[in-house]
Amino acid sequence: MAAGTVHGRPFSLGLLTVPIVQAPMAGGPSTPRLAAAVSTSGGLGFLAAGYKSADAVRAEILATRSLTGAPFGVNVFVPQPSVADSTAVADYAESLRADAAALTTTLGRARYDDDDWANKIDVLLDLAPGVVSFTFDIPESGVMEALMTAGVAVVLTVTSRAEAYRAVESGARALCVQGPEAGGHRGTFDPTSEPEATPLLQLIEELRDVPVPLIAAGGVVTGEDTRVVLSRGAAAVQAGTAFLRADEAGTKTAHRAALMSGEFISTSVTKAFSGRYARGLTNGFMRDHDHDAPFGYPEVHHLTTPLRAAAAAVGDAHRLNLWAGMNFGRTMTGSAEAILASLRP
Ligand SMILES: Cc1cc2nc3c(=O)[nH]c(=O)nc-3n(C[C@H](O)[C@H](O)[C@H](O)COP(=O)(O)O)c2cc1C
Repeated sequence: MAAGTVHGRPFSLGLLTVPIVQAPMAGGPSTPRLAAAVSTSGGLGFLAAGYKSADAVRAEILATRSLTGAPFGVNVFVPQPSVADSTAVADYAESLRADAAALTTTLGRARYDDDDWANKIDVLLDLAPGVVSFTFDIPESGVMEALMTAGVAVVLTVTSRAEAYRAVESGARALCVQGPEAGGHRGTFDPTSEPEATPLLQLIEELRDVPVPLIAAGGVVTGEDTRVVLSRGAAAVQAGTAFLRADEAGTKTAHRAALMSGEFISTSVTKAFSGRYARGLTNGFMRDHDHDAPFGYPEVHHLTTPLRAAAAAVGDAHRLNLWAGMNFGRTMTGSAEAILASLRP
C-alpha cells in the first residue's frame, strides 16, 4: 500500500509499501535484525522497548538504523499505578516455590517499577524514530505532543470501542486495534477488567467511523487473513506470531521448538506469568497456576522472571511463557522477507 488516504486523511505511516506491520514483541523475539529486515522489505518493522533499559533501547534503535534506511517503529509499555495486593502476591509466591525448586532457582522480588519510562521517552525524543506505539494506556498529553512535534507518528494500542475513542481524542495518529485472538499481553487499559471478547473482524467493523487509520492485530498469519482484515476497513495488519519463527527473530529456543512440536495444540489467556492477561500456548504452568494467580503487573512479572529464565535455559517449555496467538499452528519458518511475502494480501 503506497501512501493513500484512509477516511479522507493521508496514511503514510512509515511509508509502508505493503500494509503489514511486524508486531513489537518484548521478551526476546523483537530484534534490530528482524525490524530492519521487515522494513527493508516494505513492511513496518518494530522494536519492543518493554523490559529494557533506556540505554538498551537507544542501542537497538541505532543498531536498526545501521541495518536499514527504511523507517521503523518502537513500542513502549505505558506504566500504570500498581494494582497488586501484597498479601495475594506473597501467597502466590508460596504456591510457586515448588516450581522454583524444580528448576533449582529462586523467585524474583515482586517489585513495582515504571520500566525506565522517563528515560525511554527522552531517547525517543532524541532519536525520533518514524513511529512510536504505546501499549496498556495513553501517555500524558505532554509526551504525545512532544513526540508529534519531533515528527514521530504516535500510534496507540486499543482493545475496545471505548478505548479507541479515548485514544483518538488524545491525538493518536493511528490506532493498533488488538483483537482477542492476539498473542502476548492484551493491551486493555484497565488491567483488572476482563479483556474484550469481540473478535477482531467485528471490532474493526465497529470502528469504521474512527477518523484515523486502524492497524488490525490478532490472528493474522496468511495473505488471505490480511486480505479479509483489510476488506473490513483496516488500513494495515500487525502480525506477531507469524514472525516468531523468523530467522531474524530472537525467539527463545524452547519457545520456537514448542511452536513447532505438535505437543501444544491450543492457546489460553492467563495472568499466571505476569499478573496481566496474556495469550500463550497452554502449558503446565498455566494449568497449575492460572486459578491462583493475582493481578499485579509488573510485580508478578518480576516474581516469575528468574523462574522463566531458568526454564528457558533448560528447555522446560512447561514453565516458560510461550506467548502465541490463536493461529500459531499455521505459521512458517523462514526469513522475515519470506514471511512478509506470505502475509501479502
Ligand atoms: C511473543 C509476543 C510478544 C509481544 N510483545 C508485545 C509488546 O512488547 N508490545 C505490544 O504492543 N504488543 C506485543 N505483543 C502483541 C502484538 O503487538 C500483537 O497484538 C499480536 O502479536 C497480534 O496477534 P498475533 O500474535 O496473532 O499476530 C506481543 C505478541 C507476542 C506473540
